[in-house]
Amino acid sequence: MAKQSAIFRCAECGATHAKWSGRCDACGAWNSIHEEAPISITPGSGMKGAKGKVIPLTALDTKETPPARVKSGMEELDRVLGGGLVAASAVLVGGDPGIGKSTLLLQATASFARKGVKALYISGEEAASQVRMRAQRLGLADAPVGLGAETSLRDILTTLEAERPDLVIIDSIQTMWSDNVDSAPGSVSQLRAAAHELVSFAKKRGTAVILVGHVTKEGQIAGPRVIEHMVDTVLYFEGERGHQFRILRAVKNRFGPASEIGVFEMTGAGLAEVANPSALFLSERGQPAPGSAVFAGIEGTRPVLTEIQALVAPSTLASPRRTVVGLDSGRISTILAVLESRCGIPFAGLDVFLNVAGGMRVVEPAADLAAAAALLSAREDVALPADMVIFGEISLSGALRPVGQAENRLKEAAKLGFSQAIAPSGTKAEGSSGMSLRKLGDLVTFTGEMFGA
Ligand code: TYD
Ligand code: MG
Repeated sequence: MAKQSAIFRCAECGATHAKWSGRCDACGAWNSIHEEAPISITPGSGMKGAKGKVIPLTALDTKETPPARVKSGMEELDRVLGGGLVAASAVLVGGDPGIGKSTLLLQATASFARKGVKALYISGEEAASQVRMRAQRLGLADAPVGLGAETSLRDILTTLEAERPDLVIIDSIQTMWSDNVDSAPGSVSQLRAAAHELVSFAKKRGTAVILVGHVTKEGQIAGPRVIEHMVDTVLYFEGERGHQFRILRAVKNRFGPASEIGVFEMTGAGLAEVANPSALFLSERGQPAPGSAVFAGIEGTRPVLTEIQALVAPSTLASPRRTVVGLDSGRISTILAVLESRCGIPFAGLDVFLNVAGGMRVVEPAADLAAAAALLSAREDVALPADMVIFGEISLSGALRPVGQAENRLKEAAKLGFSQAIAPSGTKAEGSSGMSLRKLGDLVTFTGEMFGA
């Protein structure tokens, strides 16, 4: 066999390159390409007994029941999973180091275990005694959870074969190493091999597997993105370091809606579930102030109200600052351009800071109008009415486009004591929410009505 030459692989996206370069062409990450020894596969014994058979789709058992799910009892987690954990499924939970993944999963394991699920928590990062101490601190010391501290995939799989748990947590997948693979733990090949072995085990033995993956910035350790395609469900645990709120977001789910979120609060005694996120995100709101707009959003299947805050200040820079946290900065640039060219409201020479309160991240285009309202309110130094919510998408022409689930947005706002809303014309809402709804056709009308601009 010809000698295989070394390959160069990006630790962020897993793309391979013929030679090293400073930047990955595929994903644009810098300094993430590393040399990797080729995997040499020795021939195996073939697939035993598995005769490749084609089954007509119509011959499938139509009485097939939906996948069996087990609920942890942590409602926020169960919702993000699509109504509970599916047997034999593989779930990836990614997030920044220190964001609370181990805490969340230890609490989840304990909850599942208390429901009679045979659960095994394997840590490759902490000793079993450290995990036990953490469990004690979280008040979970009495939960019937099996603990392990191991990084060798071979040893872990041997244990899993013997124990046959219903659920196994691997914290983290980046610490696992397989002796079949010739590169260091944390490399793309190791990560792929470990994920592949564990996911195969899940499918073969009916065990649900939850893999924890650290999101890495520097590329020394491969990020969880390279194994997203191998698992059934991908959840990201996010939040700002300084804030106590944490959001568990489904970005892929074969067994439920994606874009569903679960909201938690990091407390001294672990993560507490937040049943009413809107109330929480708005709780920091003080007196009505210029630059603040309340957006009535939808996250997954439920409405969530958030406060969008803007600050506009004269700039001393040649190209003024555009600092956006929690919203898509590309969209904000577009909104600024529309305000400038369609409404004649320039932001040149002004620094713009935009932020979603509470560390929440909003991805819906429906937030356009609320962001524009916050920007205008800051620029004109006029506060919006305290009891007003805003939603709607802004098109490049300056027209306002209606968005889905208006009724749900309005109901949630009414529930939280808001009494008026601004939305695009064409918004379908029966008005059963008791809110006074003002429908506007374009951004020019909006700026005229709200700010006399
Ligand atoms: P951890 O779950 O170890 O993060 P990860 O596994 O994502 O790296 O959580 C780390 C942080 O959470 C740590 O900075 C301390 C904080 N924390 C609390 O505030 N309260 C608690 O009860 C626990 C267990 C952790
Ligand atoms: Mg951890």
